[in-house]
Amino acid sequence: MTINTFKLEEYLAHHEFSAPHLLCCSDTESIGVSDLINMSSPADKDIWDNLCLGYTESKGMPALRQQIKDTLYPTLTANNVLCFAGAEEGIFCALQTICTAGDHVIVLTPCYQSLLEIPKHAGCTVTTVELREENDWRIDIDAIKAAVQPNTKCVVINFPHNPTGQVITQSELDALVRLCDHHGLWLFSDEVYRLLGQPSEPWAAPAATLYPKALSLGVMSKAYGLAGLRIGWIACQDAEVLSKIEKMKHYTSICNSAPAEVLSLIALKNSDQILARNNAITASNLALLDAFFDDHKDLFSWVRPQGGCVGFVKYNSAESVDDFCDRLVKQRGVLLMPASIYDVSTNHFRVGFGRKSMPEVLAEFKLFL
Ligand SMILES: Cc1ncc(COP(=O)(O)O)c(C=O)c1O
Repeated sequence: MTINTFKLEEYLAHHEFSAPHLLCCSDTESIGVSDLINMSSPADKDIWDNLCLGYTESKGMPALRQQIKDTLYPTLTANNVLCFAGAEEGIFCALQTICTAGDHVIVLTPCYQSLLEIPKHAGCTVTTVELREENDWRIDIDAIKAAVQPNTKCVVINFPHNPTGQVITQSELDALVRLCDHHGLWLFSDEVYRLLGQPSEPWAAPAATLYPKALSLGVMSKAYGLAGLRIGWIACQDAEVLSKIEKMKHYTSICNSAPAEVLSLIALKNSDQILARNNAITASNLALLDAFFDDHKDLFSWVRPQGGCVGFVKYNSAESVDDFCDRLVKQRGVLLMPASIYDVSTNHFRVGFGRKSMPEVLAEFKLFL
């Protein structure tokens, strides 16, 4: 079976390393290797200095899996964590494993395309449940309930959400877990932006800590700003399913990059410091965007993101948003991402606010307007 083009990754591959002013990225400002090494304890510096570049353990470096558990899933064990080359490999391996031909899968849209495409590629029928702007892009549990069929296998969610920046509250997640539990469904919860943002309620717990059939997807790329490490993971209480997913990884990357594992370990040991830095950058960028959209309220409106570093902005014009984004990147080199990349036909674009270059980029955008 052929797989559809990943529109978003193709769009970024085309523009990301040529457009000078990126205003749609979904990661935060990165950190250099030497800055990260400077944060390490003497013992971890020693691991780095003496690192041998052979194959590593397929599940992920034991110390890293332990650190992921300690930092993010204290009620689980290191055996509940399986590492991948980025979140993307985790999506691929897990959804290929859980969702098999003939199954029905429910996916919230708009979404990061692989969350929808991999179950389709696996031969599943997919029902999409749209997040709606008039509902502030919040999850609609009743709509998910209405979509459940006798052969439904899995519900796929992503909060904080790409591209709207909406979050899920603890009570919403609890209600979804009750629904999944009632029907015996897997819950695949893409939480790659978790801990980035200032939601009005405390962060909902990772789904994997709440429900034995939930998989929580995490990564170093987004909240930690370390996408180049290509380290992601899945946390799940079910050892049997993790072992099946690991068998899929044997066909993709086999194991992670050894230097990336050690650098991820160091970063997670300094989690509070790195998250504080990145949350400060996104908070200050959000304030700049507030002022910018206020100056141009005739043209732009949005439901202000509560989490992550992307938001979905409505372009209130007769011009198509594709043409608008195209003119902007050609004339001023400022890159936005039109809604068509998400197969959405409304006049929205994705804006990203994780990078330090926001003041210069907005100055270019303003000149263009
Ligand atoms: C919701 C979501 N999940 C997964 C990924 C993939 O993350 P990574 O690039 O770290 O593999 C992305 C990347 O943009 C994303 O936005």
